[in-house]
Amino acid sequence: MTVTINPQKESEETMKLTLLSGRGHPALAAAVAEHLDTTLAEARIETFPDGELQVAAAADLAGHDVYLLQPTGPPAERQLLELLLLADACRRSGAMRITAVMPYFGYARQDRRTAPGEPLGARVLTDAIGTRADRIVTVHLHNPAVEGFCTKPLEHLLVTDRLADRLRAIGDDAVLVAPDLGAVKLAQHFADLLDLPVAYVHKERLSGDRVQVRRIVGQVADRQPIVVDDMISTGGTVVSAIEALRERGCRTPVTVAATHAVLAGDALDRLAGQPVDRILVTNSLPPPGEASLLEIVDIAPLLAGTIRRLHEGG
Ligand code: R5P
Repeated sequence: MTVTINPQKESEETMKLTLLSGRGHPALAAAVAEHLDTTLAEARIETFPDGELQVAAAADLAGHDVYLLQPTGPPAERQLLELLLLADACRRSGAMRITAVMPYFGYARQDRRTAPGEPLGARVLTDAIGTRADRIVTVHLHNPAVEGFCTKPLEHLLVTDRLADRLRAIGDDAVLVAPDLGAVKLAQHFADLLDLPVAYVHKERLSGDRVQVRRIVGQVADRQPIVVDDMISTGGTVVSAIEALRERGCRTPVTVAATHAVLAGDALDRLAGQPVDRILVTNSLPPPGEASLLEIVDIAPLLAGTIRRLHEGG
């Protein structure tokens, strides 16, 4: 009888699961730790007066399977650098495997060059993270193609079904609306889950916070719109879509559903100025204080389940 010994598998099986958090979303990290029935490993993170970051992970992580939770939301540069420094600290403390758990992947929108002279921002990030982490876990990328140019394995989690479950009570006179062409597939996915029709808005971006609607395809008159997108940043895309839908006779109030609540600047005020009854988002980023319009879907169980599965080799 031949017995084959796989030393890598054996050492993987004995690795200790360690969860560590940057300052990007400590509340989510704590909730994930609770679901995993563990505590967050200690890490010291400071910003020096000159703005430089100083981090230190636990001294001994020898043989540990480390999961580093850090969304790279605003300020993306600091959150990214913190993630890289923490990953480096963990490696130097002996971590055997490091997984960057990024509930929100900043710069994912720079997935292609739209004009000569532009960089491929998403590629720059996956390359940088790949120098320090062995794997990335992330939620609802702006474009799943980002996985294609990631040099390390990337686990892409979707939450469409979880968001759709919260929309089931809406009547069959609703219509799923993609506020731009990039969201058409997403709207179709929601529509399939909810058995509702789809419409989409053809938008043109004029600047970082201004967009213009060219036309709407699909029946929206006398229907209650559910506008779906991967993220709400300045709110410009959703607000323009709502204005255009109203001009074409949709019913109000409008419901909005998006995975990532970036909600930069006065985005919430802009949305509150519209006939919106609720904004369904996840806690992939820290919620911006109290906002009665926001209904938050907790993704801690999803992240914890994924970490458990990856740790156990699933
Ligand atoms: C862009 O294509 C994205 O899917 C979102 O529609 C966009 O990033 C939302 O940004 P904002 O809220 O600033 O319009």
